[in-house]
Amino acid sequence: MSDRVVLAYSGGLDTSVAIRWIREKYGLDVIALTVDVAGDRDLVATRQKALKVGAVKALVVDAKETFVNHFLFPALQGDAVYQGSYPLATALSRPLMAKVLVDVALEEGASAVAHGCTGKGNDQVRFDVGVAALAPHLRVIAPAREWGMTREDTIAYAQKHDIPIPVTSASPYSIDENLWGRSVECGVLEDPWVEPPEDVFVWTRSPEGAPDEPCYVELGFERGIPTSLDGRQLDGVSLIQQLNELAGTHGVGRVDHVEDRLVGIKSREIYEAPAATALLIAHQALQGMTLSKEQLRFKQKVAGEYAALIYDGLWFSSLHQDLAAYVQSSQRYVTGTVRLKLYKGSCRVVGRKSPYSLYRRELATYEEGDAFDQSASPGFIHIWGLSAKVQAQVQPPREATE
Ligand code: ARG
Repeated sequence: MSDRVVLAYSGGLDTSVAIRWIREKYGLDVIALTVDVAGDRDLVATRQKALKVGAVKALVVDAKETFVNHFLFPALQGDAVYQGSYPLATALSRPLMAKVLVDVALEEGASAVAHGCTGKGNDQVRFDVGVAALAPHLRVIAPAREWGMTREDTIAYAQKHDIPIPVTSASPYSIDENLWGRSVECGVLEDPWVEPPEDVFVWTRSPEGAPDEPCYVELGFERGIPTSLDGRQLDGVSLIQQLNELAGTHGVGRVDHVEDRLVGIKSREIYEAPAATALLIAHQALQGMTLSKEQLRFKQKVAGEYAALIYDGLWFSSLHQDLAAYVQSSQRYVTGTVRLKLYKGSCRVVGRKSPYSLYRRELATYEEGDAFDQSASPGFIHIWGLSAKVQAQVQPPREATE
């Protein structure tokens, strides 16, 4: 038996060509592994294609539940959004794929794993670092980073070796999809001044084409994890799928972002993330009601760090364990329901309630039943402003206009 490599196989052109190319270049038997984190494709056909193209074995692993419970929901609890825009769909899937690749490689006695990433993106980093952290003895082969073929060369190679060219290869865009969102780049999108044409979007209707009637949706959370939609208890995968459909119909979740890749490139990316957008907005609203001012302020800093480490491929790191522990702890009372109004691309919070709400009507009200002691305010302000007053006397502040 010759030595084996486990390849993360999407069924697309590059990874199909990679099966053949690895065999030729490295003389290794290729085991194709498709990790299902989206649930929207016929993976039986993908498996068969891998075998047809020359894989010695083709496996499909349904990782949707693990993806949701161990990656997406913790990221949601952590409010992880990269550079304020990108909910990290692609970035979150890579460490899980790296983990499944490693597990299968160990089971199959393979000496290497492989992926289809190029040498310019973040995904290569996420795979390589993930594998290095989990199984440092495994070698990583990245054909698309090594072969130096242009898109035309790859198509020619496929034609020469009778590798079917998927219809999606005709698409001018490079696309990655999973439950948390859809990432699209290339083609006309490479000009950041050009408005994304409508054919970029598949999960979301245009705000102009969305229904004229708004839609209300109620999301129930327990300890920061969404557990119900409009009062119906749902498992995480179904909840995300249904919310993608609903929010997408109302044009919610389109993102146009010029982002900073880890490898130093600014890149323009279009995302569609209807469920992620709605859940992140709702979760933050619930935290606004159940966390203290200090918790909110600190958590926001953690959120930035958490998003950066996910983006930068450091999921399997000690810092991640530490931050995740904090995030978990912070969610003890983030339980309740948020009502959202979806309307022509907008997603607004219009109601929230929680058994642990820190909002007190009797403190906030300007009407009958006010329990706030206004007579205590001058004393509080006297002490609070003391240092500012002293400093202003000794070191007069500059005029604002100076
Ligand atoms: N820029 C995103 C990231 O680094 C998405 C990358 C994958 N996008 C794609 N169209 N293939 O996570």
